[in-house]
Amino acid sequence: MPRLLATMAACAIAVISVLHAAPAPGQTASAQLLTLSCSGCHGANGRSPGQMPPLYGRSAEMIAQALREFRADQRAATVMNRIAKGYTDAEIDAVAREIATTWR
Ligand code: HEC
Repeated sequence: MPRLLATMAACAIAVISVLHAAPAPGQTASAQLLTLSCSGCHGANGRSPGQMPPLYGRSAEMIAQALREFRADQRAATVMNRIAKGYTDAEIDAVAREIATTWR
């Protein structure tokens, strides 16, 4: 039980420190949070392990276009089509900009 509490505390601290991380100039905190759901698969800073396509070094235009094509089922996908459907145009643009400018 103490171990569970310690784990929960560590998770809470991790979440809090992410929430408190200062957005880079020109970025919003919400864009940072949106990209958290991407790094789970695409890796920290887009340097994905294994089979996931890496996202670092991509332009915002390429990322936004790919997400729109996934959302419209115009691009072959196993999961990205489902993920992209949860994003509005504004969120796609914000995520693409955030990744292109901070994942290097
Ligand atoms: C569940 C794992 C998972 C998550 C979460 C995820 N992706 Fe992906 N992503 C993939 C996989 C797998 C592919 C390859 C296409 C496919 O099979 O859907 C991919 C492909 C892509 C591509 C195209 C890359 C290329 O080279 O063609 C982009 C851009 C992308 N993802 C962006 C994102 C963004 C932005 C997020 C967060 C909003 C995100 N992904 C979240 C697994 C994931």
